[in-house]
Amino acid sequence: MLFFLHLYDKLPLPFFLSNAMQTLQNELIAKFSAHFGREPEIVSYAPGRIEVLGNHTDYNEGYVLSAAINYGTFFAVSKRADNEVHLLAGDLMEEVAFDVRQPIAEKESMWANYVKGCLAGLSSVKAPQFGFDAAFLGNIPLGSGLSSSAALETCATLAIARLFDITLPKLEIAKIGQKAEHTFAGVKCGLLDQVSSIYGEENALVLSDFRSFDIKPIAFPEDVCFLMCNTHAKHALVDGAYNERRESCEIAARFFATVLDHPVSALRDVSWNEWLRFRDSMDDRIARRAAHPIGEDTRVLEGIDCLRSGDAASFGKLMFDSHESSRVYFENSCPELDTVVNAAKSIPGILGARLSGGGFGGSAVVLVNKRDAETAAEAIRNAYAHQYGSPCDTRIISCSQGAHLVKA
Ligand code: GLA
Repeated sequence: MLFFLHLYDKLPLPFFLSNAMQTLQNELIAKFSAHFGREPEIVSYAPGRIEVLGNHTDYNEGYVLSAAINYGTFFAVSKRADNEVHLLAGDLMEEVAFDVRQPIAEKESMWANYVKGCLAGLSSVKAPQFGFDAAFLGNIPLGSGLSSSAALETCATLAIARLFDITLPKLEIAKIGQKAEHTFAGVKCGLLDQVSSIYGEENALVLSDFRSFDIKPIAFPEDVCFLMCNTHAKHALVDGAYNERRESCEIAARFFATVLDHPVSALRDVSWNEWLRFRDSMDDRIARRAAHPIGEDTRVLEGIDCLRSGDAASFGKLMFDSHESSRVYFENSCPELDTVVNAAKSIPGILGARLSGGGFGGSAVVLVNKRDAETAAEAIRNAYAHQYGSPCDTRIISCSQGAHLVKA
């Protein structure tokens, strides 16, 4: 354990930031300095994520392939002499102030709850001895399903931990963000978003086993990349649909525990054949919900084999299958996402597409040959505009380095 504590503390600061990221970081430091009248002592960065295969498997103790993306959030902080926290949202230029010893979730300025939740998590490791001034600024489109909230939690936890002289392994940092979602935002999410944000590596996917917490990079073919297609359709995570899906999976796991002759503590323990054998003995809705994470676990394992053999075409097919399972069984897709995925099926150069993350809106992730990325993105925008009057937002995504301190 101690080994990990020290290892993380000594990770090198990155030498290179893209121009866009450098500009964003400079903008945050300028806003911090203008607002608080001094330079920040510590600055951290955390990226958003795309989920590539393994949908709603994390809280079912299953497998996920994901990646940290080239969009993220910077967090700047400096110690104060009193016990106050002054927190500035750099995009809104709105400030929230509270006592460092009492971070309490509020209905106004809900964005502050994510940081308060992380502060509460860190305070349970070590009681704060002083307050701080902090500001954050990011470029992840909000509500796009690219985990802007996990990025904020992760960069806030990294920076505040450094300010308070708390050293934590990566997984514990991810868990602090997850707990903030549960208790300060009311979403019973798994650990995927925070894990992807902090474990991301350049040109690699993150393969996570959410039972053993074995989390490792897996090389990604060089001639393909991802497109993120943001539909701007409403993301309903905080509206209870996500929590309802999670409950249905737990009900299904409890059912399988009573009928199977091996231990079942989560849907991870149920095979596709077992699902087929018992689906008619179950409530139909619960059976369909369970089918999705069970099938997704198999697809992730098949996907790893495809990546190892460099077979991007078969990997893409698994992504299409994953979306179909979302649409039919889990019912966490929506017409806007289906439009993107259906269009993707007939556009040259595209190998696969699926929704990414919680679902119910947000973004689809598309796997495309690098040389076709621009034309394929244009074709998706046109198909979307044909259906909805205006195009979806498309961006080329590169698998990027995970969260880190940029000034410490
Ligand atoms: C959201 C949650 C994650 C995960 C995905 C679906 O992004 O925050 O924990 O459950 O949905 O795979």
